[in-house]
Amino acid sequence: MANIGREELAGAHDASVPKAFADLMTQGWRERDVDTTPVPHATHLARRRARLSTAFPGETLVVPTGAVRWRTFGAPYPFRAGSDLLWLTGDHDPDSVLVLHPTATGHDAVLYVRPRSDPSSGLQYLDRVDGEVWHGRRLSPAEKELRLQVPTAPLADLPGAIGAVVAARRAVRVLRGYDAGIDTALLPVTPDNAERDALLASVLSELRLVKDEWELAQLQDAVDATVLGFEDVARRLAPDVPTPERLVDGAFAWRARVNGNAVGYSSVVGGGERTAILHWAHNDGVVRPGQTLLLDMGVENDHGYTADVTRVLPVSGTFGTAQRDVYDIVYASRCAGLAAVAPGVAFREVQLTCMRVLAEGLSALGILPGSVDEAMDPERTTYRRWTLHGFGHMLGLDVHDCGHARPEAYGDGVLAENHVLTMEPGLYLQPHDELVPAELRGIGVRIEDDVLVTATGNQVLSAALPTRADEVERWLADQRQAGPRAPSRDDVVG
Ligand code: GLY
Ligand code: MN
Ligand code: MN
Repeated sequence: MANIGREELAGAHDASVPKAFADLMTQGWRERDVDTTPVPHATHLARRRARLSTAFPGETLVVPTGAVRWRTFGAPYPFRAGSDLLWLTGDHDPDSVLVLHPTATGHDAVLYVRPRSDPSSGLQYLDRVDGEVWHGRRLSPAEKELRLQVPTAPLADLPGAIGAVVAARRAVRVLRGYDAGIDTALLPVTPDNAERDALLASVLSELRLVKDEWELAQLQDAVDATVLGFEDVARRLAPDVPTPERLVDGAFAWRARVNGNAVGYSSVVGGGERTAILHWAHNDGVVRPGQTLLLDMGVENDHGYTADVTRVLPVSGTFGTAQRDVYDIVYASRCAGLAAVAPGVAFREVQLTCMRVLAEGLSALGILPGSVDEAMDPERTTYRRWTLHGFGHMLGLDVHDCGHARPEAYGDGVLAENHVLTMEPGLYLQPHDELVPAELRGIGVRIEDDVLVTATGNQVLSAALPTRADEVERWLADQRQAGPRAPSRDDVVG
């Protein structure tokens, strides 16, 4: 639950609780209805649990979601469910633990959940840690069972269930790093189990690599909201007066909260030479006429799927010569990379394809020392001073999705139908880089799209946002002509 003690969560500003008040709080509360309709993806959730079951016959599997983190007395950080538990159960609440108990033919799933506050104790109303009047009506285990279509039990039953497994010395694997109570007390991490547990994390990541049909719809939903957010930003970006990066960051965040849950990661909004800072997230600069603005932003939708999109906009309306030269190299790399993305193609091949185009461009700009072939030599890779990161990564419930997959299934593996990944080559010419001609210093360009691997090639989920330089200029002009709008769930792309 909380990561600091309950007594520490009481603030010095809290009033004392006289008995008459506490007594009065225990009475006269009417039960309220709650939606227990099964979630639309219940069959997908069950199918995912079945796939995990098949990977570990006869073993107990423990997948926690994690706890609320407290920023200070009574003030929690927003809770985001652990992605593996969310993928297996659809449960967004803190503290839940999914256990797959082995049977003769597979596993029985049980989701251990925090029960409701007990209204007869008054705690429900007085406890700021889990009181429902502070945080909202929770589902009881029975209600959650109906909604998520998975058997549930109260969290208090978990120690007994795990204790029985441990006492019988049966095989168990735990997804580590989410629940301190499990990792330190219930099933402590030991040198003996570290490797076994790591395999559970790897298999979960690998199962999540291939998206099911419902997940693909969620990703498109997140991308569509993100496109709207980019449009919102373009409509507020004045061509002829300085614009604070925070204004842009805030305009996108407004869209993310209206059409989704939140931003999927800290928005990167960098103007001028901050375009060359990969994960600039302070966003406290000002972008000025004549400069470019790099926007790396993604909406996380209501089901936890995130987009990850980057565009570079010429604030005044058209790219300057040097800006355009660098932009066109990155655009060529992006197009070459997209042409390579298809099932059966090695992830590394896409990487090499994109990087060679960037290296050739760096050479043409007079930046690259030596030949392109020398720079591309795996023993040298000198071009990386200006490319800094790979062509892309898997995308899904996490912006850098499936991060525990084994190398042979991801970076050293091949692409497969229904993988979703980013295509995001970039060039970053730092303002203090003396190997770069003065007129090119401080120019950073990344073009990032979200791409579905199809049976025969790929589909760009973020294609509604143009990428070719002249099309970006035209789109920016069109957005400006349309004018600012307040975000609404009814908005449609375009
Ligand atoms: N926004 C993080 C990334 O592009 O990987
Ligand atoms: Mn990315
Ligand atoms: Mn990004």
